[in-house]
Amino acid sequence: MSESTAAFLYLVSGVLFILALRGLSHPTTSRQGNFMGMAGMAIAILTTLFLAGPSFGGLLLIILGIAIGGTAGAVIARRIAMTAMPQLVAAFHSLVGLAAVMVAAAALYAPESMGIDAVGAIHGQALVEMSIGVAIGAITFTGSIIAFLKLDGRMSGKPIMLPSRHAINIALGILLVVLVIWFAASESHVLFWLVVLVSLALGVLLIVPIGGADMPVVVSMLNSYSGWAAAGIGFTLQNLALIITGALVGSSGAILSYIMCKGMNRSFISVILGGFGGESGPAGADDLGDRTIKQGSAEDAAYLMANASKVIIVPGYGMAVAQAQHALREMADKLKEEGVEVKYAIHPVAGRMPGHMNVLLAEANVPYDDVFELEDINSEFSQSDVAFVIGANDVTNPAARDDKSSPIYGMPILNVDQAQTCLFIKRSLGSGYAGIDNTLFYKDNTMMLLADAKKMVEDIVKALDR
Ligand code: TAP
Repeated sequence: MSESTAAFLYLVSGVLFILALRGLSHPTTSRQGNFMGMAGMAIAILTTLFLAGPSFGGLLLIILGIAIGGTAGAVIARRIAMTAMPQLVAAFHSLVGLAAVMVAAAALYAPESMGIDAVGAIHGQALVEMSIGVAIGAITFTGSIIAFLKLDGRMSGKPIMLPSRHAINIALGILLVVLVIWFAASESHVLFWLVVLVSLALGVLLIVPIGGADMPVVVSMLNSYSGWAAAGIGFTLQNLALIITGALVGSSGAILSYIMCKGMNRSFISVILGGFGGESGPAGADDLGDRTIKQGSAEDAAYLMANASKVIIVPGYGMAVAQAQHALREMADKLKEEGVEVKYAIHPVAGRMPGHMNVLLAEANVPYDDVFELEDINSEFSQSDVAFVIGANDVTNPAARDDKSSPIYGMPILNVDQAQTCLFIKRSLGSGYAGIDNTLFYKDNTMMLLADAKKMVEDIVKALDR
């Protein structure tokens, strides 16, 4: 295959990736977007194969690699629970980082095979690209592993604050720049591995101080890093597809991080500096102090909603854990049959990943027209009879709006407390992801429905039938 045909095909795959991102931005077009992405990737892989024209043995190795990786990916994707998706994404990002390190090492040890001069005579530009790519790749690798361990609960979600961490990180950052320059000037293999080592340490140190509530931003930030690492390696290998794809992943990850920071009212810098958010922990009855809660039953909830004219449903992480979305849709259908207006309100960081709630509701065939984003529905709570909060917590916490001393102060919330009655399904009075008590539980117009979300909604459906 000629270089120009390959360049054209890479461009086609790049366009397909852009269309894929566009498709993935809405549930109605996301399936189509996925297919576009798959087609783009298939074109990019085949073009690379035909362009390189590997030997029979090489081809066999590549096919074997694709078969093993593809099978592992398919099995994991089939088995993974939606609630475990963020840690899976983090784990996959670590592999992208590792791949960037491996490819750069291969380019260093066998530059002829990649068309970038001979050992000891690699041109300076390639060495700079290689070392920057390898540094970002190694940071992404260990950073993503820490993010995986934190999100998967294998490591404390609390920020781990090392003494003088900022000074240590700055010193390591400066050392890294010096090593990169030195390596680019000398092509020393020892310096290459020193760049890798310092970057691996930096990856750990950068992510360890970042706590629970900021982890989503970190995952998307690491996603962005892995893209830039791939683009860096793309320059080294002079592979247009890698440059385009890496830049797309890098920029879309950065945009997503920005959107999430906005959703949590956190600045990007304060996220990177770390120290915010802990682990959730249930508050026992002893923690109530002189506060009281009003507890209700499925029958109470059914009665209140059947007699309402407008109900707004606010789903959160607990709905995903309980897999209550199907029962929820059934409940909404019944209410609609009774003439109740039912809408769904989605907070940008509800659940554990962007679009988490939208995906679950789409899976349960909730009509897209019933689903509204925070800014489009927040003014409607004050005119609704019932706000039905199912497994959400942080995204409704009035402390974010009213309490200047709260660590989540400033995060936009869904104004469920402004509805005439707020029904709140969760299993205990425990806190959510940010580890912060929710004053909503103790308000006069809140009725706690303490149970597993699916069980409670099923009971409400039964009560509505009676
Ligand atoms: P959370 O604040 O985490 O609250 C979820 C609540 O669901 C918990 O308080 C828990 O209370 C309840 N729950 C868990 N299992 C349940 C079950 N089986 N049945 C009923 N309730 C159950 O969730 P949220 O309001 O959706 O807020 C999301 C939080 O996650 C934010 O702090 C956000 O920053 C963070 N985060 C978001 C993302 C993205 S991008 N969406 C990614 C990572 C983290 P009980 O234990 O008492 O039942």
